[in-house]
Amino acid sequence: MKSLTRIYVAILLVTTASLQAADVKTNWEKQCLKCHGADGKGQTKMGRQSGVKDYTDPKVQEEMKDDKAMTIMKEGIVENGKKKMDPYKDKLTDEEMKALIAHMRSFKK
Ligand code: HEC
Repeated sequence: MKSLTRIYVAILLVTTASLQAADVKTNWEKQCLKCHGADGKGQTKMGRQSGVKDYTDPKVQEEMKDDKAMTIMKEGIVENGKKKMDPYKDKLTDEEMKALIAHMRSFKK
């Protein structure tokens, strides 16, 4: 019985972990992909229009700082009175935003 409980807990943990991973991907695909692209290169119509950087580029990754990235995700980007990126503070939790930034890190070549 005890070992069964342990197996059950293990399965539960694995399932939760993969659910969280799926959430990040879903969030990325739903909210970010249209500009930043599936591969983080930003080679989409909206990405080119808004001028997103190529997040597979190690230099771009180096210039991206986690705390600044969080602020941008919360507040969005407005340049010369034009909205370039939406604010996500009402749409995503801090945890989800952190996970998305970590996801962006994984694009690095
Ligand atoms: C309407 C287009 C658009 C959408 C949608 C969008 N972004 Fe952006 N994002 C931009 C632009 C433009 C920039 C500024 C140029 C750059 O840094 O690539 C930017 C910058 C960023 C930065 C700042 C990086 C740094 O250098 O500090 C982060 C982080 C980011 N986006 C994450 C996301 C995430 C995560 C999502 C989805 C929840 C998302 N963006 C959705 C257009 C968009």
